Amino acid sequence: MQNDIQEILITEEEIHAKIKELGSKLSAEYEGRNPLVICVLKGAFIFMADLVKSITVPLELDFMAVSSYGASTKSSGVVKIIKDLDASVEGRDVLIVEDIIDSGLTLSHLIELLKSRKANTVRVVTLFDKPARRTVDLQADYTGFVLPDAFVVGYGLDYAEHYRNLPYIGILKPEIYSS
Ligand code: PRP
Ligand code: MN
Ligand code: MG
Repeated sequence: MQNDIQEILITEEEIHAKIKELGSKLSAEYEGRNPLVICVLKGAFIFMADLVKSITVPLELDFMAVSSYGASTKSSGVVKIIKDLDASVEGRDVLIVEDIIDSGLTLSHLIELLKSRKANTVRVVTLFDKPARRTVDLQADYTGFVLPDAFVVGYGLDYAEHYRNLPYIGILKPEIYSS
């Protein structure tokens, strides 16, 4: 375990088992629909890579980078598109892949944007959810794990761009972010 981590909350094995489950459900849901699977960069990149390997039906991938936090720790409430999609979503069955839902602001803006671009359906799969932190009414269609309101990192989740590469979800030692 890395030195800055206080405790492992979800192990690599638990994450992979959950992703297999999600993949089976999504394979049934999207059979014959050629979904456009959208990764929300950067946090979702590892989940996206593992998840699509567990989905057995034909699909297409695209990537989008958005930021609502900027340099601040508080959301501005405005989602800025850093990198837009390459392809049109019009008429497509879109599946948004997120690592974590916190306030819900990032996703609620993204869903509205894709609906305004005339996607046929917009659904969300998130690996982690912190419902206690929600400020807007938003629920994922598929959720891996519900997390307590602790400062977690790993499996794509960062603190100041660090720890994304940890293969598990860990609680960061408070002295790391309070100093
Ligand atoms: C994090 C996380 C989600 C979002 C969730 O992304 O990856 O995308 O915040 O928070 P919300 O529900 O309050 O909007 P972040 O903006 O830190 O960018 P990153 O993915 O590049 O780390
Ligand atoms: Mn993110
Ligand atoms: Mg982040």
